[in-house]
Amino acid sequence: MSDQTPLIPYEWPGTYYFGEEEYAAVKAVLDSRSLFRFYGPNLQQYTKRLEQDFATRLGRKCALAVNSGTAALGIAMGAIGVGPGDEVLLPGYLWVSCVAAIVRAGAIPRLVDIDDTFCMNPEDLKRKIGPHTRAVLLVHMSGAPGAVDKIAEICRENKLFLVEDCAQANGASFHGKPVGSFGDMAIFSFQLNKNMTAGEGGMVVCDDLKLNRRAWAFHDLGYPRTDEGRLDVSDPEFHLWGQGARCSELSAAVLYAQHKKLGRITGDMRRAKWALRAKLEGIPDMKFRRILDPAGDSGPFLIMTWKDRETCLSMVEKTRAAGVVTGPIGVNNIPMTNWGMHMYYNNGSLVGKTSNSAAGRPWNDPLNAFASDYSYAKGTLPVMDDLIWRSSMLSIPPVLSDEAIDKIAAAFHAAAKA
Ligand SMILES: Cc1ncc(COP(=O)(O)O)c(C=O)c1O
Repeated sequence: MSDQTPLIPYEWPGTYYFGEEEYAAVKAVLDSRSLFRFYGPNLQQYTKRLEQDFATRLGRKCALAVNSGTAALGIAMGAIGVGPGDEVLLPGYLWVSCVAAIVRAGAIPRLVDIDDTFCMNPEDLKRKIGPHTRAVLLVHMSGAPGAVDKIAEICRENKLFLVEDCAQANGASFHGKPVGSFGDMAIFSFQLNKNMTAGEGGMVVCDDLKLNRRAWAFHDLGYPRTDEGRLDVSDPEFHLWGQGARCSELSAAVLYAQHKKLGRITGDMRRAKWALRAKLEGIPDMKFRRILDPAGDSGPFLIMTWKDRETCLSMVEKTRAAGVVTGPIGVNNIPMTNWGMHMYYNNGSLVGKTSNSAAGRPWNDPLNAFASDYSYAKGTLPVMDDLIWRSSMLSIPPVLSDEAIDKIAAAFHAAAKA
């Protein structure tokens, strides 16, 4: 830990924009005594209004607000109907929730390598598609989109569902088209670290009305609702099993206000990140993460890949000593090997193929026998393992000042010279 004053404010971007709008919306919900989204004495319909705004921004027909990104992933897997006998392909640089959603559905996750975009490598994806592959989960990691054009095409050609995980890239776009508008379904998270936040929350979007109706049933009690908010048991096709992930009107009130500020939040992060990136140009033995479309980067992270592990560790150590840190409970300027369960091999449940039940499902389900030799241990994805081993990462808060940017850049240049 540095003995200097931290140069970087805490991450948690959306929180810097809490203002009159969030306060007024929360007060309106409390005053209305209608905290349940479907009915109440004076329903303000913040959840519905948030969904409408979200769907409009993405150009999608349907949006469903839920209580977390993890729940949203489970709902998406349920809606597309993956289960035992199915395999879902996903990148090894991810979050634990991505694998959890597949395993809880009874299906098998299969890892795909990344490339220097730090997102799924489309060529490795093609290699991994097999007879049991049902869906692809493309995770737009660390603020910027993966090669979603190529991956969507591969999915179309192979008749696979594409689900986009946009938890870390809300507000990002790929050549003008927002992330979350490419896949059959897409999910978002509004947890504290995300580009807009209510502390907790998530969203599921799609265009297909049947997928949407299934998602609504899953997020609730297993049945869709009527327009009046009452359970609709009329259609046996939608007699499903729910997971209780409804969004509260209080969360939706905050999110409704935050969503209107998303462009400002990501714009501020993008400006700060790319100003810093420009000042770090020319540092020897370092390459930036390849960003496919800089204009569509939502900006919360800057990843640098160093020539080798020693250079990476030494640059982090020297710059941290020069004050390139955040406060004691934030995470900033770290070697990426310290980035926890974003790496497949740090997920003990995955590597150990653990189960929630004594029966050991889904790993020993006879329908999943095709996957009995799949390994999730370090070494499974050589390109990712090498990139993570020698990369470091900065979190970029939207309030990073020009003065701090200058000082951070100076610290890196001085460390490189030393
Ligand atoms: C890529 C990714 N997917 C899903 C999630 C899950 O979101 P939540 O924390 O809202 O459950 C996260 C959260 O960190 C994430 O980073």
